Amino acid sequence: MEVTVIGTGYVGLVVGSCLAEGGNHVTCADIDEAKIARLNSGEVPIYEPGLDRLISHNLSAGRLRFTTDATEGIRGSDAIFIAVGTPPGEDGSANLGFVREAARTIGDHIKQGAVVIMKSTVPVGTSEIVRAEIEGRTDTTFYMCSNPEFLKEGDAVGDFMYPDRVVCGVDDAPARERMEELYEPFVRSGNPLIFMDIASAEMTKYAANAMLATRISFMNQIAELCERTGADIELVRRGIGSDKRIGPSFLYAGTGYGGSCFPKDVQALIQTGDEHGVDLAVLRSVHEANDRQKTVLVRKIRSRFGDDLSGLRFALWGLAFKPETDDMRAAPSLAIIEELLEAGASVTAHDPVAMEVARDYYTKDAIAYGDDEYETLDRADALVLVTEWLQYRRPDWASVSQRMKQKVLFDGRNMFDPERMSALGFEYYSIGRAPAESEG
Ligand SMILES: NC(=O)c1ccc[n+]([C@@H]2O[C@H](COP(=O)([O-])OP(=O)(O)OC[C@H]3O[C@@H](n4cnc5c(N)ncnc54)[C@H](O)[C@@H]3O)[C@@H](O)[C@H]2O)c1
Repeated sequence: MEVTVIGTGYVGLVVGSCLAEGGNHVTCADIDEAKIARLNSGEVPIYEPGLDRLISHNLSAGRLRFTTDATEGIRGSDAIFIAVGTPPGEDGSANLGFVREAARTIGDHIKQGAVVIMKSTVPVGTSEIVRAEIEGRTDTTFYMCSNPEFLKEGDAVGDFMYPDRVVCGVDDAPARERMEELYEPFVRSGNPLIFMDIASAEMTKYAANAMLATRISFMNQIAELCERTGADIELVRRGIGSDKRIGPSFLYAGTGYGGSCFPKDVQALIQTGDEHGVDLAVLRSVHEANDRQKTVLVRKIRSRFGDDLSGLRFALWGLAFKPETDDMRAAPSLAIIEELLEAGASVTAHDPVAMEVARDYYTKDAIAYGDDEYETLDRADALVLVTEWLQYRRPDWASVSQRMKQKVLFDGRNMFDPERMSALGFEYYSIGRAPAESEG
């Protein structure tokens, strides 16, 4: 099938490459000229495991191309995906400016019988806005589909190729048939293509993210209570996660959720509730608890070192909002670094892939970077572990101890065993577990 994907970010690039791998001819279009130039010179602008191989394979097979001009792709396409950003506006509602612009471009060039597929996460009713925008520019018959994306950054290729389910909101047979044809290669293992009406598909995406965010904020609040009562959140997590009705996923206490989806989608859903007179009080609490959680480590640091952190040096491991991605949008590391710097501390950070991205967030010299994680530790008063990258899990503790000025560790992901850390002579602070007495 001839396919165009408008928006070549974390979602569009994965969707386009995977659909090309599935045998389609895919045009990936983006208004960001620098991004398209990098892609055309063989560079992948984001870090996503497995994506580079997929892109180079399909480029050389002639099934994938990148352009800043969507029009040619749209004119020949049977399926046109909208995968542009829907960032939060000032009031938290989704900004649909990019979506509307994409719709106008589609309306000017769409061919008879094409399906327009909404991949971006958009509030209920947006696909109808897009439909109206296109109808205002053409008399051609076309079909709408809401097909929200559930991929996880860091595992996005696997999630698209082997989805748990694919949700398709359609209201006519041609759209349904086209979606069945497109996804047939990816649902062969029996995982379902779930068809529903368009509004329900749009809502499903928000409800899924809001539910996952709720689990995280819930566990973070229980973790705080564990600290006060002498309980251990890791044992509680195992205790409740083995209940089939609850399940083990998304039960990890930590430094709060970040990334480009959960924070903005929770806020957008609250806003949709407000617009329709429904007070989503649960989600307001989820959002507030998360905002507070992002600086939980800073509160622990302040209670250990005092409010004035000037003259103190902190090593920070992990900048990305989670492992296996370079995405720092709404990452807890940003909130932590901001507060440390404000309190007068200096920060030396490391991340296996996000340091290039971090340089866009900070002015030169605002923070320092280590070539490897050990280099951040020289003369550090404390190590702050923010992202649970695999390579941080089994450090060479002798080398860590030798390099640090003070053996103090704030672990935002509960990666280490308090008793072991204590035996190694570390003052160890984690989330939802009482600090063990240092033996060193
Ligand atoms: N990142 C995720 O993990 C994820 C997962 C599921 C759903 N989503 C949703 O998918 C959407 C895209 O997210 P993303 O993370 O890929 O965003 P992104 O910011 O990485 O990419 C969006 C791209 O769209 C481009 N763009 C904007 N307007 C355009 C236009 N008129 N024509 C062509 N290109 C245009 C931008 O230049 C940018 O490259 C959002 O609605 C997001 O909520 C994201």
